[in-house]
Amino acid sequence: MIDGQGRQIGYLRLSVTDRCNCRCTYCMAEGGVPMLGHADILSFEELTAIVRAAAELGVTKVRLTGGEPLVRRGIVDLVRMVAAVPGVAEVAMTTNACLLAPVAAELREAGLTRINVSLDTLRADRYEKITRGGRLEDALAGLEAARAAGFEHTKINCVLMGGVNDDEVADVAGLAKGEPYDVRFIELMPIGPAATWPQGSFVSADVVTETLPELRFIGREGVAELYQAKSWAGCVGLIRPMSHKFCDGCSRIRVTADGRLKPCLHSAAEIGLRGLGHDELLAALRAGIAAKPKYHHMDENHASESARDMNEIGG
Ligand code: 5AD
Ligand code: SF4
Repeated sequence: MIDGQGRQIGYLRLSVTDRCNCRCTYCMAEGGVPMLGHADILSFEELTAIVRAAAELGVTKVRLTGGEPLVRRGIVDLVRMVAAVPGVAEVAMTTNACLLAPVAAELREAGLTRINVSLDTLRADRYEKITRGGRLEDALAGLEAARAAGFEHTKINCVLMGGVNDDEVADVAGLAKGEPYDVRFIELMPIGPAATWPQGSFVSADVVTETLPELRFIGREGVAELYQAKSWAGCVGLIRPMSHKFCDGCSRIRVTADGRLKPCLHSAAEIGLRGLGHDELLAALRAGIAAKPKYHHMDENHASESARDMNEIGG
């Protein structure tokens, strides 16, 4: 379906839980966050019904997000159900990969096509600090298990944080030298806990091309600018929601774990999808897509207009 600005909407991001085994500083508040109860979370049947309706409207790619999708019980079965929906060509997942190693092969067999791994540092002590308790070796084991299970072009998402990990750009990008990984540097957005972080935390993704002058621009893919260096197996992507708005290339809609459609990550607008039959779901999705905002309004003086934390939306 085409939205009100002429954008083709083909990509649905489904948050399947707001829970997470990590507590990343930019994503979750220090004192913990009030978690949804089991009854508040969409069931597999509800999730699949939403995917079915979205696919009828032209969605071909579904990404399962969280919180951390791998903490949701039965996640392999959910992947199988979503992959079986007619029209769905791609089922991807964004994960911190700490719980991935034991299930990577099963997920692949169930129909998962792509994996994005959140990895903001390659230093174990930093990893523990940023994730408030996560273990780098578990995430790296998950990444390796995904490769061994046959997942290709796995994306590695690294959120750039001034004074935290901006000195590691070369090391993290270096993961793409030997393996066909797509390492994506994402500018920190003022949403959730990060909405009140100091200015110095927000660094432009220019730091990546400045640090690695061998990178050559090879084109755009969705919301990312892609770069590659000679003889590298993989590539580097820059996602610059802050320094370069990419909203005109946005093809996505989002559904929160408690069943609310968010046409835009940074808008407060939400449409409830729970309890709707198929035709009502189609109507709600149509209305949401039609009302998708043209741009977000974030900048150095304005935080996201969404009142939600990222663990409720899934990035
Ligand atoms: N700014 C940028 N990216 C964020 N993510 C979560 N919070 C933020 C933020 N404030 C992204 C991370 C993570 C994904 C789940 O969401 O890339 O990998
Ligand atoms: Fe898309 Fe909204 Fe992000 Fe813009 S701010 S790219 S419209 S999700």
